[in-house]
Amino acid sequence: MPAEPILESSREGATILVFEDPLSACAVAAERIAATIRDRASNRRKAVLGLATGSTPEPVYERLVAIHKQESLSFANVVTYNLDEYYPISPFDRNSYRLYMHQKLFDSVDLPAASAHVLDGTAPAGFVDEVAAAYDRWIEADGGIDLQLLGIGRNGHIGFNEPSDLTIERAIALPTRLVSLHPTTIVDAARSFGGEDKVIRGAITMGIKTILAARSIVILAFGAGKESAVRDAILGPISPALPASLLRTRTAETTWLVDRAAARSIVAELSR
Ligand code: PGA
Repeated sequence: MPAEPILESSREGATILVFEDPLSACAVAAERIAATIRDRASNRRKAVLGLATGSTPEPVYERLVAIHKQESLSFANVVTYNLDEYYPISPFDRNSYRLYMHQKLFDSVDLPAASAHVLDGTAPAGFVDEVAAAYDRWIEADGGIDLQLLGIGRNGHIGFNEPSDLTIERAIALPTRLVSLHPTTIVDAARSFGGEDKVIRGAITMGIKTILAARSIVILAFGAGKESAVRDAILGPISPALPASLLRTRTAETTWLVDRAAARSIVAELSR
């Protein structure tokens, strides 16, 4: 059984669960995903999952693989859409999110190859817009995303939807598209690329509109580095300058799974 949260609160329709440590939060995220898959299967429907990469969700995938093996959770009726991919990048590059997903999940479960979608980092430059638009159409054709797993950047990005000075209306209408990485994102990616100058500057990201349309969102944030982004997203103004704050424009279910370090400056306010 996953660990209990040390604090449970709700705010503007979102549920915020604070856990002692990241592993406990990730176990809860994995159970939610497994429950979604089982629930949809019992209704003879496929489960459509939006998936995230980075260091944060790694234990979620470890746990899902364990549930697949120990509890026979099948991914045969699952369809996945990853949030983002660097551009341009080869799927064999060690920083490719397609490679990450194969290593962490796809190669260890019975997910059909044709059901595992990651934005194509090898699309020819003239076709990227078409690839991005097709991604949104495929998600729609699959009936929309049942559960979207998200991380949050130190700058508040979701996917590679970076801070902007757009109006809220324009920001929440952003589709899947080619973007440039924000300076903070480049600094944070430098470690895995072996230096800031080596970080691929572009990416294709699922749009804010696409993310907000998910029927359920589970967003993970761990460590002191995420503390201010978490505080601003939950308690600050709703603004495209902090893209995760736009989750508050949703009426559908949003659950924050946060560890004690990332929640440090909101715990007092949320306990009131
Ligand atoms: P991280 O990235 O999991 O590597 O911290 C999160 C994000 O940028 O969304």
